[in-house]
Amino acid sequence: MDGEHPSVVLADVCRRPDIRAQILVFANEKGGVGKSTLAFHTCIALARAGHKVLAIDLDRRQRSLDRALQNREATARSLGVSLPMPKHVVLEHQSGAMLGQEITRIGADCDTIIIDSPGHDSPIARRAIAMASKVITPVNPTFIDIDSIAHFSAASLKLTSIGSFAQTVMDLREERVSRGLPATDWLLVKNRVRRSEKLQLERFDKAIAQLPKALDIRISSGLTERVGYRELFLFGLTHADCTTLPGMAGVKVSRSTEMERLMDEIGLDRMLDTEAKMLRQAREPARRMAGHRQALRNHLGATKRVTTPA
Ligand SMILES: Nc1ncnc2c1ncn2[C@@H]1O[C@H](COP(=O)(O)OP(=O)(O)OP(=O)(O)O)[C@@H](O)[C@H]1O
Ligand SMILES: [Mg+2]
Repeated sequence: MDGEHPSVVLADVCRRPDIRAQILVFANEKGGVGKSTLAFHTCIALARAGHKVLAIDLDRRQRSLDRALQNREATARSLGVSLPMPKHVVLEHQSGAMLGQEITRIGADCDTIIIDSPGHDSPIARRAIAMASKVITPVNPTFIDIDSIAHFSAASLKLTSIGSFAQTVMDLREERVSRGLPATDWLLVKNRVRRSEKLQLERFDKAIAQLPKALDIRISSGLTERVGYRELFLFGLTHADCTTLPGMAGVKVSRSTEMERLMDEIGLDRMLDTEAKMLRQAREPARRMAGHRQALRNHLGATKRVTTPA
């Protein structure tokens, strides 16, 4: 992996305090694939289901996720209603220490922390991926969009090599496992699927069917292209919210169940508590090592002499 070595990233991540929340990271080095859109809809679906959610926006320039949640707060105020509301923050200082601090400061009592990362590689995006129990990677179903994940032969559609983003996720996951942390659960979500592009979709599906084995990634059924995912940004609402708002009887809302299906595919409750426990275990060797070193120092201090071997 180019850039920072996975062991440096993981050493940093393992220093963060224990939290009970599971961390979901929406990431893809490819820009404009729907990371913020999916992160927002996931936050709201979870908050509506009663989860305490913290949303962290790593993209301090665009701030799409945070802006959507600010718009939601404004809507709740203007309408005088209480909406299921995730806590939210933008990571202004892009350091692993600050990310850990915000997680502890704001996310300590949360069930789920959702991190939206920018559409490019960066040290902070790597830290987020390294600490995630689940990485969710939206991708538009075209070969140019999947290129950061995998490369395919034009003639046979056989997988020829692994893309740079996939390599980063795999290297960080391997480092997690070598430290006794659970392997990252990685989900590829086809997004903005247009059923009318049948032939293109068939070729795409045939190609990505090779990825679960090659990359240890799960493939979700995906989300279709729907105006409903973007038209309420300025209100910070989802169509599901509109069904519960007073005075909205008779308005046309999307009844699609694909977001619920995505929630099932993400499989949210599976890792609660396990992650914190395994993080503690991963730190154990470091503690033992420190204790051992101290015992040795005490012993040498007592004898006041070190004999170097010839
Ligand atoms: N399923 C969908 N149906 C319709 N429009 C969508 C869907 N998903 C995303 N979009 C639209 O696609 C565009 C890009 O989405 P979004 O900003 O979420 O991508 P991103 O991956 O977060 O981008 P960046 O890399 O710049 O952060 C936006 O206009 C968004 O409204
Ligand atoms: Mg975004």
